[in-house]
Amino acid sequence: AEYQTIRVEQRGRVGWITLDRPEALNALNTATMREVVAAAETFDADEGVGAIVVTGSEKAFAAGADIKEMESKSSVEMTLTDHFGAWARFAAVRTPVVAAVSGYALGGGCELALMCDVILASDRARFGQPEVQLGVIPGMGGTQRLVRALGYYKAAELVLTGRMIDAAEAERVGLVSRVVPATDLLDEAQTVAQTIAEKPLPALYAAKAALDAALETSLAEGLRFERQAFAGLFDTADQKEGMAAFREKRAPSFTHR
Ligand code: HXC
Repeated sequence: AEYQTIRVEQRGRVGWITLDRPEALNALNTATMREVVAAAETFDADEGVGAIVVTGSEKAFAAGADIKEMESKSSVEMTLTDHFGAWARFAAVRTPVVAAVSGYALGGGCELALMCDVILASDRARFGQPEVQLGVIPGMGGTQRLVRALGYYKAAELVLTGRMIDAAEAERVGLVSRVVPATDLLDEAQTVAQTIAEKPLPALYAAKAALDAALETSLAEGLRFERQAFAGLFDTADQKEGMAAFREKRAPSFTHR
């Protein structure tokens, strides 16, 4: 596929999506949303891809939804076009997604990171939900995912003040998985993503679905889901191979089946 606002490549079993609108600090306009979603769904449908990395530039992961594109819209237009609706499809990909964040991850940029499963941050990353300053609120999941990730009081402070936090604070409050030096970010993202991608695909899909269930359902419901998903994996070739390799004290050779 030909993309205008992102770059896409595959390294090993890892699909890379790099936001590429430097003139707007990777602000997420409709074209970018469609391209990111299309690229993620294409990787998701490819059995040769076991993990996806989403990244931006050193200066900006993404400075938010595109303010200039939204500014003049009416409430009816936003509703009828479901302006950010396609992002739900990004959040729904079954393949694990690693966000590699450097620079600004603001508004929709922070929310895009929150749709990923692992958030690696460079020591130069800055996170924030500045929407109230624009007279709006987070619209790509920020109010919901931040509360679940950080707890109510940290989330509410960020959303209500619009304050930006640095990588160290983001790590302290649980907004990122890990912080690495800026110069190592992309290598580290590839390493983490490839480590994930080499694992059996059926187990990765099941693990991500079960983790998602923890955010979406009651404990009882989530535990039932986990038990069923766990049992279901015993019909996979990779479960037999993984356990045989352990017993035979050798490295497993997975077929992702
Ligand atoms: C459109 C943006 C943009 C955005 C930056 N730019 N952020 N354009 N939408 N969100 C553009 C600027 O207009 C400018 O273009 C160019 O990118 C460089 O930005 P500068 O402001 O000149 O850079 P700098 O001085 O380094 O400041 C960086 C910054 C600032 C602190 C990140 O750009 C900023 O505050 N951006 C907006 C952040 C924000 O409010 N995000 C939330 C968006 S609302 P020109 O051509 O003018 O020089 C949102 C809603 C989510 O995300 C709801 C659902 C999606």
